[in-house]
Amino acid sequence: MTEPIPPLRAPRDVDLERPSAARMYDFFLGGETNWAVDRAAGEKAIELLPWVRDMARANRAFLRRAVHYCLAEGIEQFVDIGSGIPTVGNVHEVANGLNPRSKVVYVDNEPVAIAHGRVQLEQNGDPDRHAMVQADLRDPDHLWQQVLDTGILDPARPTALLAVAVLHFIPDTDRPQPALAEYRERLAPGSALVLSHGTLDKVTPDQQDSLDAYTRHYATTQNPLIWRSQAEFAEFAGEFELVEPGITWVPDWRPDPAIAPELRTSLADPAQSLIYAAVARKA
Ligand SMILES: C[S@@+](CC[C@H](N)C(=O)[O-])C[C@H]1O[C@@H](n2cnc3c(N)ncnc32)[C@H](O)[C@@H]1O
Repeated sequence: MTEPIPPLRAPRDVDLERPSAARMYDFFLGGETNWAVDRAAGEKAIELLPWVRDMARANRAFLRRAVHYCLAEGIEQFVDIGSGIPTVGNVHEVANGLNPRSKVVYVDNEPVAIAHGRVQLEQNGDPDRHAMVQADLRDPDHLWQQVLDTGILDPARPTALLAVAVLHFIPDTDRPQPALAEYRERLAPGSALVLSHGTLDKVTPDQQDSLDAYTRHYATTQNPLIWRSQAEFAEFAGEFELVEPGITWVPDWRPDPAIAPELRTSLADPAQSLIYAAVARKA
């Protein structure tokens, strides 16, 4: 198999020795922006948890529905933190479909995600409305300044801040809760926080061994997994008000029967997604 996949070679600062969450997620979703090390780790993950591709699809479908919700609520600006490697139905594409004035700033700390994100925006973005910045969720001052420096967003207007399937890569020692509190503080009234996060709250006894092995497997990648309980997840929303239906499994958050074919899953039970979802609003 040839690699890396066009149009880019690996950016200079990329770590190709260890698999990354961004590139494994791309592999789970059927993308081509991943290297042999990521595919090997992805195959191993699927061996341990055979429905992991369905988990990724269910999460991605939630992200789309949440973007639709925000647009329907009149929110036109998006900051997508931990946006990942561009895949089908990126936030700006979903948003453009409903609102051609919508604005999106993507943020990730993974060099491949940044490089491919920029290429994609060159191809189908609008430099006045879309940007991709390299920053770390754990450093809100720097991240927010980078976002503002794009000149794309008006911080006085409601903004949707997305932290979808990213907080579970940040251990408590790196203080994700205070970081989220800072972002909430900076958002204008009427803004929304879109969150999803892995959990082991409802693991069945027959899943336990696989999940222990899966967690140990992720610990060998650049992005070890930190599972959190529903109560811990709820803390990320802080004083924001959860919109209906509150915290759910990703497939259960305002399900839409018109789900895109590439994001359909065969999860027998929404709890099998192992991912909580929520959208919360600032009064
Ligand atoms: C599983 S992907 C999620 C992609 C997208 N948000 C989604 O849900 O479809 C997680 C992304 O978070 C990024 N990430 C992990 N830790 C991060 C951090 N500290 N700051 C910014 N991005 C981070 C990874 O590089 C990866 O692209």
